Amino acid sequence: EKGTYPHYMLKEIDEQPLVMRKIIQAYQDENGELHIDQPIVGAMKEADRIYIVACGTSYHAGLVGKQFIEKSANIPVEVHVASEFSYNMPLLSEKPLFIFISQSGETADSRAVLVKVKELGHQSLTITNVAGSTLSREADHTLLLHAGPEIAVASTKAYTAQLAVLSILGHTAGKAIGVQQGFDLVHDLGIVATAMEALCDTKEEFEAIAKEYLATTRNCFFIGRSMDYFVGLEGALKLKEISYIQAEGFAGGELKHGTIALIEEGTPIIALATQEEVNLGIRGNVKEVVARGANPCIVSMKGLEDEEDRFVIPEVNPLLTPLISVIPLQLISYYAALHRDCDVDKPRNLAKSVTVE
Ligand code: F6R
Repeated sequence: EKGTYPHYMLKEIDEQPLVMRKIIQAYQDENGELHIDQPIVGAMKEADRIYIVACGTSYHAGLVGKQFIEKSANIPVEVHVASEFSYNMPLLSEKPLFIFISQSGETADSRAVLVKVKELGHQSLTITNVAGSTLSREADHTLLLHAGPEIAVASTKAYTAQLAVLSILGHTAGKAIGVQQGFDLVHDLGIVATAMEALCDTKEEFEAIAKEYLATTRNCFFIGRSMDYFVGLEGALKLKEISYIQAEGFAGGELKHGTIALIEEGTPIIALATQEEVNLGIRGNVKEVVARGANPCIVSMKGLEDEEDRFVIPEVNPLLTPLISVIPLQLISYYAALHRDCDVDKPRNLAKSVTVE
């Protein structure tokens, strides 16, 4: 039930801090250490390469998950869109592990890949919100998201739950493999939950940004580098599916190779600047589009902020920034759709779970 909330989407955005705490609890052992069942850690240890397969928002979570697993566990990871993988299968390594990311666990495109993977005799793990779903039943292993039912068509809390579980998977496997982790993930995910709360408490800021930048625009670009690029892809998907504004996410450095031709006087550009090593680079990209008339909205992280920024998110472990930088984008999309009189929870042409290929 959505209770006093006008829309499920807003309720589900607000639930994210609680979901973080539930996930931390669900994956802690009696000593408070993060724990993932031995058969799954064993499958990670044995794999010479991981193939993440997913669609839509879950695919975007996979792009971030690749960074978590490669950085924490030192295992190479490829991320594939399920509908492409089925018909254009890459050369596989000798001991692959397949990870299916699916909120519903019922997505037909991902199921089709799992059928093929099983025929080939490879190990599989499903990360899903729905225990007993098809992808969970058919894979060798399952990790649950513990996000509670997600009703709004636009996925929000499932995305951040997927990121949290992927971070725990990478961290736990890394430890088992003997990779030095260098930080306490339980502690840092707790900080993420608190930062999420702070962001959910400043909704009027994001409503103001939506009104200022997106009330009448035809299009909008999201730019970022490294982790911020992947979050920008998710921000663009959120905005386009519920507000019908043509929105695209780009790697900051890639704009000048073509897309910058689309920048006109007043084109909104939402730029994420949460990564220290690319902070100068993304700010340079913002200057390039501003010189062509763009209307920039920079969302940065505390410690990296500049006077020109429109919003500064609280500081968290740099690896975990996607978990909180996505929240302003979810809320901006929500308010853009609301003020453009769109059906927020049930956008046109879309279904909650896509059970046809
Ligand atoms: C976007 C959205 C979709 C789903 C995609 C995969 O907000 O919800 O892009 O992420 O259809 O669905 P699952 O995760 O259920 O496999």
